[in-house]
Amino acid sequence: TCSAGEQRTVVIGLAADSGCGKSTFMRRLTSVFGGAAEPPRGGNPDSNTLISDTTTVICLDDYHSLDRTGRKEKGVTALDPRANNFDLMYDQVKAIKDGIAVEKPIYNHVTGLLDPPETIKPPKILVIEGLHPMYDARVRDLLDFSIYLDISNEVKFAWKIQRDMAERGHSLESIKASIEARKPDFDAYIDPQKQYADAVIEVLPTQLIPDDNEGKVLRVRLIMKEGVTFFSPVYLFDEGSTISWIPCGRKLTCSYPGIKFSYGPDTYYGHEVSVLEMDGQFDRLDELIYVESHLSNISTKFYGEITQQMLKHSDFPGSNNGTGLFQTIVGLKIRDLFEQIVASRAATPLEATKA
Ligand code: ADP
Ligand code: G6P
Repeated sequence: TCSAGEQRTVVIGLAADSGCGKSTFMRRLTSVFGGAAEPPRGGNPDSNTLISDTTTVICLDDYHSLDRTGRKEKGVTALDPRANNFDLMYDQVKAIKDGIAVEKPIYNHVTGLLDPPETIKPPKILVIEGLHPMYDARVRDLLDFSIYLDISNEVKFAWKIQRDMAERGHSLESIKASIEARKPDFDAYIDPQKQYADAVIEVLPTQLIPDDNEGKVLRVRLIMKEGVTFFSPVYLFDEGSTISWIPCGRKLTCSYPGIKFSYGPDTYYGHEVSVLEMDGQFDRLDELIYVESHLSNISTKFYGEITQQMLKHSDFPGSNNGTGLFQTIVGLKIRDLFEQIVASRAATPLEATKA
C-alpha cells in the first residue's frame, strides 16, 4: 500500500567475516552516495553506527544477545546464531523500512558489553553490515540488495597478520589459532550466506605469480546475479561473451606480474551469474580510465567517475587492485538501484503499467 512517491527506506545487506574490509567498503560506498558517513553526534562514543545525508550504516554486532562474558560462559562464538537476536534484528529493520524509528542496542567492542540503546531514524538507504545479514530468512526478505565479501583463507590470513601483528602486537601463532578456532562456525553460519547474495566480491591469491604465498597481489572476482530487479551486471566488451584481456601495453603501464581481466557467464550455487575478474594491480591509478572506458553498464554519471573515485580514495586499502575497483563499481550499482527504486515508486499508475 505505497502511495506514489512515498519514501521508503531501501535496505542493503553487506555480509563478511570481521577484518575482511567491510568498513573500507562502507567508506567507498557512502562516498559514491555523495558524502562521508560519520558516527552519530552527541551519542555513545562507542556507537558502531555511521550516518551521512542519505545513508545510515548499522553494524549487526549490535544484535548480539550474549555479551563477551555470556559467550565465554556458554562457549559460543559471536558467529553462532545463538549469540544473536534475530527476532529483534527483524523487528527493527522492518520498522525502519516502514518509516518508524527504533531504539537499537549497542554492542560495545571495547568493553564487550551491551550499552544503552541509540535511536535510529529511517534513512533513505539503510546498510546492515556484519556477520549475518542474510542468515535469517525474514531479515533476508527485507533486503533490496545483498553483497557478500568472500575473502579466501590465504588472503584473510595475510590481512590479519598485517593488522594484528603490526598494529596490535599479536603473535603469528595466536593469529593462526584464532582463525582456526572461528573456522567451524564460519563455515556453518557465515559462508553459506553467499548463495543468497546478489553480488559477491571474491578475493583470492594471484595466479600470475607461480606459487605465490605473499597475499599481496590479488585475483578478485565480481560475481553478479542475473535477473535481479534494478540491477544489470557490468560487462567487458561484449555482454554474455567470454573474454580474456591483458590491457598492458602502449596505453597501460604494467610492471611484473602485470594485469589480466576476464569476463563471462557462469553459474553460482545454481544461479546464472556474470563474472568480471581482475588479477594483478595498477601501477598508475590515473591510467585506470583506460580500463574504465572498456567496461559497460557501470552506472556512472559522467565519463571517468570510477577513476575519479579511486583516485580520491587512493589511500584506502585495495585502491590499486580489484578489491577497490569492484567495491567502487558495486557502490555505483547500488546508487543506480536506489534511484531506480525511487523512480519506480514515483511513477504514476499509467507510467507504471507501461514498464
Ligand atoms: P572490517 O570492517 O570488515 O573489520 P576493515 O575494512 O577495517 O575490515 O579492514 C580490516 C583490515 O584488513 C584493514 O586494516 C587492512 O589491513 C585489511 N584490508 C581490508 N581491505 C583490504 C584490501 N582491499 N586490501 C588489503 N588489505 C585490506
Ligand atoms: C564482534 C565481531 C566478531 C568477534 C567478536 C569478538 O562480535 O563481529 O567477529 O569475534 O566481536 O568476540 P570475543 O568473544 O572474542 O570478544
